[in-house]
Amino acid sequence: MTAEQLVETAKAAMQLAYAPYSGYKVGAALLCKGGMVYTGCNIENAAHTPSICAERTAFAKAISEGKQEFTAIAVCGGRDGVIDGTFPPCGVCRQVMAEFCKPDFTVYLIHATGWEEVTLADLLPHSFSAKKHMN
Ligand code: THU
Repeated sequence: MTAEQLVETAKAAMQLAYAPYSGYKVGAALLCKGGMVYTGCNIENAAHTPSICAERTAFAKAISEGKQEFTAIAVCGGRDGVIDGTFPPCGVCRQVMAEFCKPDFTVYLIHATGWEEVTLADLLPHSFSAKKHMN
C-alpha cells in the first residue's frame, strides 16, 4: 500500500463519519505491519463524552482483530467532510498511538492538495509510556 493509497482510504473513511454535533468529519486509515489497513471515522454522541475520534476508532478495530504492530496512519478532516488544512490527531489519540507505536511511526497529515509526513515523535515528544517510566 502506497502513501497515496492510504491517503485515499482515509478520505473515503471520512465520508462515513457520524458528526451531527460538531459538523467536522474526520477519517483515518491505519496501516498494520503485514499490510492490513483498518479505517476509522469519528462517531459523535448527544452526550458528547461517548464520542470517539477517527484515529481511535481505527486502532480499536485493528487491536480487537489481533493487530498490535503498526507502520503508519493517514488522517484527514474538515467541516462537512471538506478538507481544507490538516486535521492533526488530538492529544488523546497521540497517547493511544504512543501505547502501540514506535517513535518513528509515520503520520500522514492530509491537506487539500496533498499531505505532510510527520512522525509520532514529532507529534508527542517526551511521551509518557509504561515501558520507559514504570518498572
Ligand atoms: N476528532 C477526531 O476524530 N480526531 C482528532 O484527532 C481530533 C478531533 C473529531 C472529534 C469530533 O467529533 C470532531 O473531530 C470535532 O472535534
